[in-house]
Amino acid sequence: MKVAVLTGGGDAPGLNAAIRAVARAGWSAGFEIVGVRNGWYGLVEDQLLPLTQETISGILPRGGTILGTSRFNPFKSEGGTDKMLDTIHRHDIDALVAIGGDDTLGVALKLSKLGVNVVGIPKTMDNDIPGTDFTIGFDTAVNVVMEACDRLHPTAEAHHRVMVVEVMGRDAGWVAAVGGLAGGADIILVPEIPFTIDEVCERVKARHARGRTFSILVVSEGAKVAELGTQIVQEARVDAFGHVRLGGVGNVLAREIEARTGYECRVTVLGHLQRGGAPTVFDRVLATRYGVAAISLIVQGQFGQMVALRGNTIMAVPLQDALQGTNAVSRELYEMVNLFT
Ligand code: F6P
Repeated sequence: MKVAVLTGGGDAPGLNAAIRAVARAGWSAGFEIVGVRNGWYGLVEDQLLPLTQETISGILPRGGTILGTSRFNPFKSEGGTDKMLDTIHRHDIDALVAIGGDDTLGVALKLSKLGVNVVGIPKTMDNDIPGTDFTIGFDTAVNVVMEACDRLHPTAEAHHRVMVVEVMGRDAGWVAAVGGLAGGADIILVPEIPFTIDEVCERVKARHARGRTFSILVVSEGAKVAELGTQIVQEARVDAFGHVRLGGVGNVLAREIEARTGYECRVTVLGHLQRGGAPTVFDRVLATRYGVAAISLIVQGQFGQMVALRGNTIMAVPLQDALQGTNAVSRELYEMVNLFT
């Protein structure tokens, strides 16, 4: 049996660990494993890379993806569907493991409906895939946010400043909520709960009145300033999956807080630092468990599924169900976050 594996969408630490696990578990099941370069683009353009012991040697701790990735939507490219199916048939690919977020897995679902044997592995630093509790890359990202808060605290305190930390996460607030909670942030703003700048200023002033003359404010890039009624975008043009490029809310907040309270503000935009570097223990182990589980589904002939973590149990969820709706930060988590802010 020949199994292909690809990584799509934004890179995230742990992708290589997942590729390695698919290869190692696949070999032990007697499969031939081939990598597809650059996500769905590589399947359309027939860019394959045979995976061998040498190719996967030493990749477990490495960020990025040895296969490359892209935000390419094959169903939006002329002849994309036929070209993908041609590549699959030309190379006698029996099954495909797609590692990615909702966009990549959405393509996987469509392919599965076209009769391709597909299994999905959830990856995104945003942790916003409904069918699973955790996605590959999230834990590493929140560790970066935590460390950033730890590093910003001394300066905030020494200079009596408001330090605004803008984090990624698109329309979900997981990165801000969990990273900010772990980093002891004083105010956390997520897309799920719109806020007014006045409210934020009141919270900063209340801290000052209590003698806490500094604040760490963690804000999701997708957080909605109620006065503006929208998210703040860096680039309004949408990508192949309909996403704008978010960014800038940190600067807007800092400028307004400084103007309305008189407290000095500084902004740190963590950006792609959250997706770089070596994966944490949790991401390496999660990626390994997912890779092994994906091969086990292929062995059992269970396709159109996504591997998922629920509690501490790895299970299979139909891709159709796994991508249904949104995975927003729960009220329960947000209320807990607010206990500490
Ligand atoms: O989906 C992952 C993510 O890192 C989002 O949090 C962020 O909005 C986006 O990707 C950034 O994309 P790019 O790497 O294309 O700038």
